[in-house]
Amino acid sequence: MVNDVLAAIKRRRSIRAFTEAPVTVEEVQTVLEAAVYAPSAGNQQLWHFTVIQNQQLLADLNVRAKAGAAQIDNEHIQQLAKNEKFNIFYGASTVILVSGKVDGMAIEADCAAATQNILLAAESIGLGACWINLILFAFAGEAGKQFSQQLGLPPRYKPFYSVALGHKKVDSVNIPHRKKDVVNYIK
Ligand SMILES: Cc1cc2nc3c(=O)[nH]c(=O)nc-3n(C[C@H](O)[C@H](O)[C@H](O)COP(=O)(O)O)c2cc1C
Repeated sequence: MVNDVLAAIKRRRSIRAFTEAPVTVEEVQTVLEAAVYAPSAGNQQLWHFTVIQNQQLLADLNVRAKAGAAQIDNEHIQQLAKNEKFNIFYGASTVILVSGKVDGMAIEADCAAATQNILLAAESIGLGACWINLILFAFAGEAGKQFSQQLGLPPRYKPFYSVALGHKKVDSVNIPHRKKDVVNYIK
């Protein structure tokens, strides 16, 4: 079976190379409208979205996140973090930070659902996007509190995920392998 929704779900890929073409206000609004139509536990909608288009701030977040990532016990992440050329946002000039109120009933799931809607909406309007969790390293410790203040997060909200958003530099990327043996039917 194929329809527009299923096609966009299957077509969506993590895009890790962007052109310099700016994302328009309308495009940002479109993906954010999709975000807030996500389901949320008890319909609490305790999410918050920060559209970051300040390039200096993105550069600072990249540096802090990489410094934090370099400390963790994961060789792959350490290698990325130590690579001077690596940018956690892949050069995207728009990043959407998805934050949630810490006492939400199922806030991580709510924010994840909103994040996935952003990715799918981006694909549906021809933009590229990548879910970026590496940003979270920037929010650890005292420096992290400063970023939260600078970004104007509401009280008791914390960042959960982010999305790098932009115009795709390449038309197609390899489809990462999908595991097949993940379903069980009980009839
Ligand atoms: C919770 C989560 C965190 C992720 N964080 C990152 C990240 O920090 N950097 C990155 O390049 N990709 C990140 N990804 C993207 C995954 O690597 C990607 O979805 C996966 O390799 C499958 O590729 P696809 O999105 O093209 O299907 C993340 C995905 C999820 C769901």
